[in-house]
Amino acid sequence: MSTKYAEAGQATRTTYVGQAIDRVDGPAKTTGQARFAAEYPYPDLAHAALVHATIARGRITAIDTEQALAVRGVIDVLTHVNAPAMKPAPKMSFLDLSSIASGTSVNYLATDEVHWNGQPIAVVVAETPETARYAASLVRPAYRVLPATVDFAAEEPNAAPEKGNPLMASRADKGDAHAALAAAPVSVDLTFSTPQHNHNAIEPHATTAVWDGDRLTLHEGAQNIPWLRKHVAQRFGVPETSVRVLSPFVGGGFGGKSRAWAGTLLAALAARATGRAVRLALTRAGVYHTVGGRTASTQRVALGADATGRLSALIHTSVSRTARIGGMPEPITAASHHLYAAPNIHLAQHNVQLDLLPNTFMRAPGESIGTFALESAVDELAWELGMDPIELRLRNEPDRNPVGGQRFTHRMLKEAYALGAERFGWRERDPRPGAMRDGRWLVGMGVATAFHPSMRMPAHVTVRLGADGTLVVRSGMHEMGMGTATVQAQIAADEMGVPLASVRVEYGDSDLPPGPGAIGSVQTASAAAGVIDACAKLKKSVLALARRAPGSPLHGRKLEELEARDGGLHHRGGGQGYTDILNAAGRDHLEAESKSNMLGFVARTVLDRRRRVKAATGAQFCEVRVDPDTMEVRVSRWLGVFDVGTVINARTAASQLRGGIVMGIGMALSEQTLIDGRDGRIMNPSLSEYHIPVHADIPRIDVLYLNEPDPTTPLGLLGIGEVGITGAAAAVANAVRHATGKRVLDLPITLDKLL
Ligand code: MOS
Repeated sequence: MSTKYAEAGQATRTTYVGQAIDRVDGPAKTTGQARFAAEYPYPDLAHAALVHATIARGRITAIDTEQALAVRGVIDVLTHVNAPAMKPAPKMSFLDLSSIASGTSVNYLATDEVHWNGQPIAVVVAETPETARYAASLVRPAYRVLPATVDFAAEEPNAAPEKGNPLMASRADKGDAHAALAAAPVSVDLTFSTPQHNHNAIEPHATTAVWDGDRLTLHEGAQNIPWLRKHVAQRFGVPETSVRVLSPFVGGGFGGKSRAWAGTLLAALAARATGRAVRLALTRAGVYHTVGGRTASTQRVALGADATGRLSALIHTSVSRTARIGGMPEPITAASHHLYAAPNIHLAQHNVQLDLLPNTFMRAPGESIGTFALESAVDELAWELGMDPIELRLRNEPDRNPVGGQRFTHRMLKEAYALGAERFGWRERDPRPGAMRDGRWLVGMGVATAFHPSMRMPAHVTVRLGADGTLVVRSGMHEMGMGTATVQAQIAADEMGVPLASVRVEYGDSDLPPGPGAIGSVQTASAAAGVIDACAKLKKSVLALARRAPGSPLHGRKLEELEARDGGLHHRGGGQGYTDILNAAGRDHLEAESKSNMLGFVARTVLDRRRRVKAATGAQFCEVRVDPDTMEVRVSRWLGVFDVGTVINARTAASQLRGGIVMGIGMALSEQTLIDGRDGRIMNPSLSEYHIPVHADIPRIDVLYLNEPDPTTPLGLLGIGEVGITGAAAAVANAVRHATGKRVLDLPITLDKLL
């Protein structure tokens, strides 16, 4: 690693940052000692199962629980008739970001109204999970069915211009894109569609809820502990301090565990009603029925260019859907604000509201499907022009943000494409469609650009240095598998100059200082800022002790002259170990903290985003093999070259980016939630019918980083969680286009669309 962080006023010496360090939680996970939310034993533990509505909209006219109650081992059946009421979900407000924690606005079991097919309408509590699930199948509701709107394709022509998108401007105009398109000598005008996608984390959502008087303990896989705690406290009318959320391990989140969904609330409600500790582990179908996924979309991308490939017009419009009971607009056209230097741009997002479970955050919401459309269209324009698709992109690479003219804090797409083209063997690509073969397989190569904005959230972090030389970092961060504790330990070890083995990171507990959410690719950079700040304060306090000690080699020294290394503070002429300093001062530990105010932080972030554009980017290279008879598509090679700023841990970062690419391959080739247009029923709520890639579908995925720190962020980090999925589906579609000559505009690219 270089010493470039100095530009951002950060540590100048790194030992652990940048290295491929093993995960500190690896042994606990591989030996089965890591406990997930559904694995906490309680002596009086009872098990809950949900009963789901089977109509899209209407009222429950009667609910017969007699048979269910008669099953031996059933403790109670809660319905809207007998359940204690929770308080209603708070209204969404940007002054209180925790209000985003509300997955839906429905007050479960306090209403006879049904708002989507799958809404929980009863909870069975029993001595075993099997008993609870069996008894749940015996609950008999009767309904008065009301008309419902559930078919996205049928409704999307009626979409309204989007309002209130917190993540980006819903509309942007520069010049006259429509006139420029009409006048362009070369153009493409394409309409894309993408289906709904559902969350399929390896750990289905689960909650263990335990009340002790008015105090609630929740074991829950959470991506945002402070929001969840606040939301649950509001719903049960208890102070926030009465709710403890424990979330040491999360088996994948991807956005699906950043809100409070029905299972969490109903587990707590059931525990309150029965006086038992209650575990509610959702079935896979239960996740589909109660946890939102990604919106379906239709998108138009139209591009106009001159014969040399210079863009004159870029139009990107989208329709997505929310639900009448919640959901959020997704930033589908976000990347189109930033990627191409067109003088005329028109971007606009539209929404429809359906009687379905609301959509929610799902890895790069908006950008993942938006880059599919944009980057497919750019590729198609390259075909129209007879130009190499990388060359076309480079010719339109902007110096400043195309919409708004802001500076980029960092932009290395040219370098990413140059390195990727060389490593992937792009020169060997025969540009004619269907010209490359491997035996009987058609071979295709495609590229696409990855883009995800870089953000930060406040983090409260404490660091505690013991006289025994140990360093404890405490912050309520989230470990969903990405290496949270590992990378923060690396950063803290470097900042203090202590061995990695002497650092312990505590996270995943609402009793800790509140951490940033593991959302929006913000967690690592946000926590790093807190760790660096807290360590700086800690070193200052250590030095203050040493300066007071008459015999100390640090006597009279200033912090700027010192380097933290070898377990102490050093200057050219000498130094002193932390252990010595603390012992000499008779202190058994020293502690420091870093804290930031949420509102000020948000305000600064918003202002910063107006002033300059900060993003992680990348160049995705995909090779496919297509069977010429069956049109089966196999991804055979992949290279992603990413500019994510500094890479803290080459191993966990590569995993994170690979995971995003795998999810993008699933989006490209197989993933889709099928919804019955008559009654809003999800037809494929299982891994046997909703196809995510398995190992056999995924080739070796090579990941390279440019590893240049961003000059404006702590440690130069740009965020790594979501950029990997962006551009990935387009790279597949573009490779398929090269192999077969066929452009598929609607995902997933199943073989029927190629035959
Ligand atoms: Mo992310 S979609 O903010 O986990």
